[in-house]
Amino acid sequence: MKAVIVGANSYIARNLLYILKRRKPECEVKLYDYTETHIDGESNYTKINILDRESVSKIDMDCDAVFMFVGKTGSAEGFDNYGTFVNVNEMGLVNLIDEYRRQKSGAKIIYPSTRLVYKGGDKPLRENAPKEFKTVYAINKFACEQYLEQYSQIYGVKYCVFRICIPYGTLIPGASSYGTIGFMLNRASEGKNITLYGDGSARRTFTHIEDVCGNLIDGAFSDKCVNDVFNIGGEDMSLKEVAKLIASEYGVKVENVPYPNIAEMIESGDTVFNAGKLANAGIRSRFKIEEWIKEENVVMDVRQSAINQKISRGGVICPPDLVKVLHIAPAPKAA
Ligand SMILES: NC(=O)c1ccc[n+]([C@@H]2O[C@H](COP(=O)([O-])OP(=O)(O)OC[C@H]3O[C@@H](n4cnc5c(N)ncnc54)[C@H](O)[C@@H]3O)[C@@H](O)[C@H]2O)c1
Repeated sequence: MKAVIVGANSYIARNLLYILKRRKPECEVKLYDYTETHIDGESNYTKINILDRESVSKIDMDCDAVFMFVGKTGSAEGFDNYGTFVNVNEMGLVNLIDEYRRQKSGAKIIYPSTRLVYKGGDKPLRENAPKEFKTVYAINKFACEQYLEQYSQIYGVKYCVFRICIPYGTLIPGASSYGTIGFMLNRASEGKNITLYGDGSARRTFTHIEDVCGNLIDGAFSDKCVNDVFNIGGEDMSLKEVAKLIASEYGVKVENVPYPNIAEMIESGDTVFNAGKLANAGIRSRFKIEEWIKEENVVMDVRQSAINQKISRGGVICPPDLVKVLHIAPAPKAA
């Protein structure tokens, strides 16, 4: 079994590699990203620039799965930096697909998409629910889904798209998504009130990173997930409910603040996933956000006493001090 991870320094990739090594130790993995060396010091690493077509030819696609995590994520920022967003997200993926064709690869490209392709609605969204694109990033991600489908139909490229709503948690110290939950934890752990735009009633599907990565790995190696799109499941909660859980654990309050102008215009409304399609393929999420928040707060208490102890979570064996790592995030970005 062979896998390639492109964008191997990313938050999701670093966590995925950690889980892949434990769940599939027989899997041979090659890593690619933009820096000279891999951020966690992995040795099977090659520097590439996804925008340089010649550099992309260094990626060895003689493998079973290519996880594509190179991306530029953001909401309002995409309007100012549209060149980077369009290039890194769209040109980057098409460069990868073109190299796949050149190498006549038979691998399955695993592509992480986003909740932001959906038009918000009050019912859980199935994969074919109406779409709406309020940001450059949102249309980039949907364009990438469509590139994969086009190249699949015309050139037989194998792929699978997994839409992720709000991921949280990390198994790797320092690897954080700088997203919704990271923002809340950052404020609360500094003793500041958690601020929410509007009344915070918007609902999301929250998915622990171990579930995100576990679903991506299971989907990558499943015959039931080929040339298709799947929502990754999790827990349906409002932003206010999650903020209150975090606030009470850290002894701070939740404050509602008016939306800044652009943030209100690009707010999606409720985006809760129906993950029944992936469940039908036997792939599900299991973690609970409330349990995770409590674990986060006790990390300092348990670290010393539990340092030599191993805990098992769903087949992944992790030292407790790696499982329970705080997110400290400088700024929120869109998921
Ligand atoms: N984090 C989330 O909340 C979330 C949610 C849904 C989907 N996604 C998608 O998952 C993917 C990974 O997200 P993440 O948050 O882990 O990413 P990240 O922002 O942590 O990392 C992006 C990676 O892309 C690499 N990169 C950027 N430009 C490059 C270039 N020119 N050549 C080579 N590498 C380059 C960076 O070095 C970095 O390692 C992205 O496509 C993102 O859109 C993320």
